[in-house]
Amino acid sequence: MKKRSYYAVFLSIVLAAGCSHQETMPELTDRVFNVASAQYKSMDERLAPDSLPKTYYADGKIANSNIRWWGSGFYPGSLWYIYEYTGDETVKQLAEKNTLKLAPLQYKGTDHDLGFQMNCSFGNAYRLTGDAKYLEPLERSARILAKRYSPVTGVIRSWDFVRKGRDWKYPVIIDNMMNLELLNYAGELFGNDSLKEVAINHANTTMCNHFRPDFTTYHLVDYDPEDGHVRSRETVQGFSDDSAWARGQAWALYGYTMMFRYSGLECYLNQAENIAEMLLGRLPDDGIPYWDFDSDQIPNDLKDASAAAIMASAFVDLSSLTNKSENRDKYLAMAEKQLRTLASDEYLAAVGENGNFILKHSVGSRPDNSEIDVPLTYADYYFLEALLKYKKTCDTQPK
Ligand code: GLY
Repeated sequence: MKKRSYYAVFLSIVLAAGCSHQETMPELTDRVFNVASAQYKSMDERLAPDSLPKTYYADGKIANSNIRWWGSGFYPGSLWYIYEYTGDETVKQLAEKNTLKLAPLQYKGTDHDLGFQMNCSFGNAYRLTGDAKYLEPLERSARILAKRYSPVTGVIRSWDFVRKGRDWKYPVIIDNMMNLELLNYAGELFGNDSLKEVAINHANTTMCNHFRPDFTTYHLVDYDPEDGHVRSRETVQGFSDDSAWARGQAWALYGYTMMFRYSGLECYLNQAENIAEMLLGRLPDDGIPYWDFDSDQIPNDLKDASAAAIMASAFVDLSSLTNKSENRDKYLAMAEKQLRTLASDEYLAAVGENGNFILKHSVGSRPDNSEIDVPLTYADYYFLEALLKYKKTCDTQPK
């Protein structure tokens, strides 16, 4: 080889080594929170005193919600996470303002979503500030949520309405597992064991009735309120009654991981690890699920960033709860993969775009043709939560 060629080979090796620097997770987290902070500060400017963001459409149309929408707690919750990471007092003020918008909900008992709404907003507010003004709404809403529990069915009723064409008497959706966190948190804060008991009973009944032998979950189980027997197993937002709707699987993974974190009961850890194993075997290479694992359009179908973000948060938690070191590494590796994909240009918005939401490409309800391939506040919320948890896990783990 001539001298020139040696030089060319040497140069290309040096360049390749220089260019292959992979962004570290702390660098990635910093970058995402900078975007999140800029986006969410701007978002507040267009909100009326009683409205919260919902989504944004490609034609530039922005959809806001009133406080009763199930996802109303996610915007204040994300502001709390941004404050937690940045310590920015302006963001704290926005978080407080948007949390207090939800105060009237503490008297609402018309569906199960009170857990999502109040825990993400008031729960984070109290966790981060310790300000006693957040306590009463948390206690009151937890008590109201627990009133939706029936000892006959052994579960909290999700909805009071019946959808057109359905014949529900006591519908319970897998999403409801997430509302148990409010009961657990309030149970601990106020020393109220009956709230924790309702959470445990609901989780136990759901474990018996919602899951298939392969640990995928149905979306909805309808119960007979008179004797508690299961009347039907269906989907509302998934591809078919027998399919694995991606966000439902994410709620299940998160729900049982969270139940183990609060209760220490091994059966929940086993359930979460079985769900995790199923997901690890089925998730695509980039870690972002299609909106339903069983859609007949895969691989030419839409991905759901919200399901990936919820899973990432749960995988990080599960990695620090599992007793098996090989599982800890697998869960953390999947969370990292999901977070890296979500933080890529494909999913992460540029500042000033995407209606000021953080992530692109989520799916609300495909069968209803509602919120298709759009940003959603809950995708943003669980993405930020997962990054914070990832940071804490890595900061505390022995190197
Ligand atoms: N909890 C409603 C949803 O996941 O779409």
